[in-house]
Amino acid sequence: MRTQVGIIGAGPAGLVLAHLLARQGIESIVVENRSREYVEARIRAGILEQETAEMLVDTGVGERLQREGIRHDGIYLQWPGTRHHLDFPALCGRSVWVYGQTEVVKDLITERLGAGLPLYFEVSDTSVRDIDSNRPSIGFTDASGAAQTIACDVIVGADGFHGVSRPAIPDALRTTWQRDYPFSWLGILADVPPSTDDLIYAWHPNGFALHSMRSQKLSRLYLQVDPDENLDDWSDDRIWSELATRFEIDGWTLNEGPVLEKLLAPMRSFVSTPMRHGQLFLAGDAAHIVPATGAKGLNLAVADVRLLAKALTAYYDNGSTALLDAYPETALRNVWRKTHFSWWMTTMMHVHGDEFDQQLQLSQLRYVATSEAAARSLAENYTGLPLDEL
Ligand code: DHB
Repeated sequence: MRTQVGIIGAGPAGLVLAHLLARQGIESIVVENRSREYVEARIRAGILEQETAEMLVDTGVGERLQREGIRHDGIYLQWPGTRHHLDFPALCGRSVWVYGQTEVVKDLITERLGAGLPLYFEVSDTSVRDIDSNRPSIGFTDASGAAQTIACDVIVGADGFHGVSRPAIPDALRTTWQRDYPFSWLGILADVPPSTDDLIYAWHPNGFALHSMRSQKLSRLYLQVDPDENLDDWSDDRIWSELATRFEIDGWTLNEGPVLEKLLAPMRSFVSTPMRHGQLFLAGDAAHIVPATGAKGLNLAVADVRLLAKALTAYYDNGSTALLDAYPETALRNVWRKTHFSWWMTTMMHVHGDEFDQQLQLSQLRYVATSEAAARSLAENYTGLPLDEL
């Protein structure tokens, strides 16, 4: 096979890129080692920055997002005795949308397959070849067991943290930065209407808790737990009781309901450079991981591929490689902004360290609640700084 852009990975990064390129008349082929069912069920965060949501709507894949997504104009920050609301439109003129990453992925797959464009699921033995030449290729075995090669101009590695793309860049050329946080999240999806209009980020001496949602009927809740925690030790009753303790505030109660799913998620920051080697470009989790607090992972993946789509469009329109050459630096500026914000939210909200750390966290929370400048800084990062201002 031959195409212009070979894309490894059918998560948000690979699918959004294929979608944006198709709109510019640029051909691509997407390969994914998981099944369609697996990719469509993969549970991830559910907050879209304003620019992410607008891009999906403006490019014709936002119909269900507009119908089922819920616009949120703020969040609550809580610590014992206080629940403080931040009003995003008043602070920075932007909002966010609650719409699951899983739903974004479903919409993009439906659109691509509906248009008859190539997307191969359940491939194996994927390899990246000749990225130092002008004729790179992707090797893989398709679902029927046949060996395939995609000859292309450019390969985009959007195959996640464990993918084959990043290791294709020689070790000696790569620099990585990593932080493993000393806590994890225990998350549940519950069949109960949310007990709150906006998300609640709660600091509590027992640990962080987050009240999120997926719809008017489904709540999503998280608890900070130890990294070596065992899910079997957490009965539904224990989870609800701990959530009620951490969210406790006068005059408010937490609605309980059947737990549909339970999961543990580690918390890590990771950045790998360069995001380009030869004709291989990395996007999304293949190049970086952010801890979940603040829900930046999907938005960062989308920001990477918006830059790439613009750069590839310029290249195919008039042969200019300027934006492609600039990609590793432009993308990385945004990566570090979101890496910092995710680290900042994570370290402000999770109990760690000693009494001194806790007093600093409480002081920071009170500062965000009382200083408009501090609140605006959180709001503009949470809703997403416009890409072209970075
Ligand atoms: C969700 C996850 C987050 O990390 C966050 O900051 C907000 C919401 C979620 O899964 O709904």
